[in-house]
Amino acid sequence: MSNKLKSAVVILCMSTLSFSFSTIALGQKTPSLKEVFKNDFAIGTAMNTVQIEERDPKAAILIPQQFNMATPENIMKAEIIHPQWDTYNFEPADKLIEYGKKNNIKINGHTLIWHSQLPGFARKIESADSFKLFFTNHINTIARRYSGKVFSWDVVNEALNEDGTMRKSVFLQKLGDDFVTEAFRLAQSAAPNTQLYYNDYNNEQPAKRAGCISLIKKIQAAGVRIDGVGIQGHWHLGKIPLKDIEESLVQYSALGIKVMFTELDIEVLQRNFQGADVSQRMNNAASLNPYPNGLPDSLQQRLASDYAALFALFLKHKDKIARVTFWGVNDGQSWLNGWPVPGRTNYPLLFDRNFEPKPAFYKVIETKEKFNKEK
Ligand code: G3I
Repeated sequence: MSNKLKSAVVILCMSTLSFSFSTIALGQKTPSLKEVFKNDFAIGTAMNTVQIEERDPKAAILIPQQFNMATPENIMKAEIIHPQWDTYNFEPADKLIEYGKKNNIKINGHTLIWHSQLPGFARKIESADSFKLFFTNHINTIARRYSGKVFSWDVVNEALNEDGTMRKSVFLQKLGDDFVTEAFRLAQSAAPNTQLYYNDYNNEQPAKRAGCISLIKKIQAAGVRIDGVGIQGHWHLGKIPLKDIEESLVQYSALGIKVMFTELDIEVLQRNFQGADVSQRMNNAASLNPYPNGLPDSLQQRLASDYAALFALFLKHKDKIARVTFWGVNDGQSWLNGWPVPGRTNYPLLFDRNFEPKPAFYKVIETKEKFNKEK
């Protein structure tokens, strides 16, 4: 066989394979979230290493079909990207940048400054001066490397307590409460053309929101740039705080910044607290894992209604929202299968474990169709 013929056969085989995956996984007529909402806001997903490296063929097809933004679930966190004082592990993040370029997906860097998932060496730093050096080098090195390559950064993540006061993190203790402004100042100079965001969970709740607004005003008053605020959106079935979300959209956008929903998922299993503080855990018990073999239809429908109500609200305020990102591609890949109770079978997203759209997916699409008709 000639070389030309061989290449033609390979190309034919590859395209047949990719066609069958897309039809098996999704059906030809599955709508695309990014297309449906293209005039409203960007649609993102969190991505893990297997997905970034395209080792999961179904995810490799579904992600570019459905999403136009991605946030790395873990690989840009300090513990992974900056494991030793002088050692940076850029390889996984570089792969994500390449993946984004290839698939026309913009990347939201997550996250420069967070008290959690810090490398061991940083936890052990005692002097405030050395800690400041770590803080400065970390932001400068990473933000500079990815300047112009990531679209945006979650510059600081989860710096607030539930009552709106500053969390007593290692950053606060070593650097004082100006550390948030300083992080943005460094990021602004290292990545002048990158969008800079503050990101937190429960910051749609009134007390935490008030703290978040003060924090943003403080950054602005210092003459430092902040472009947006991320509301993570780890919510619970039947308890979506629509009124608080709406008030937050109005109040945050009055500060002249955009709002992003950055880590959206809806927990369907029982939990005795709200939020996403990863240091909180619950004891394992079979009663806490009631649906190991599938979610009953009644709950699928409730999940669909919750997502519909949320997206109706997002559409109403689309002028204030830049992006809605789901925290994971499908239910099987969600962090909520392992937290706060390990080994649960959870159902928080729009795609099921086989990458099939769930009733909630279709309800979200329907919400947009309804919005268009009522316009
Ligand atoms: O990489 C190690 C691996 O080497 C080790 O063998 C394994 C054993 O447990 O752990 C692996 O690390 C895990 C890591 O995810 C990567 O998979 C950690 O244990 C696990 O705790 C970590 O969880 C992540 C969590 O942040 C940690 O803080 C979740 O995947 C990630 O979804 C979650 O994301 C956060 C956002 O960044 C910020 N907002 C809250 C959100 C949910 O907690």
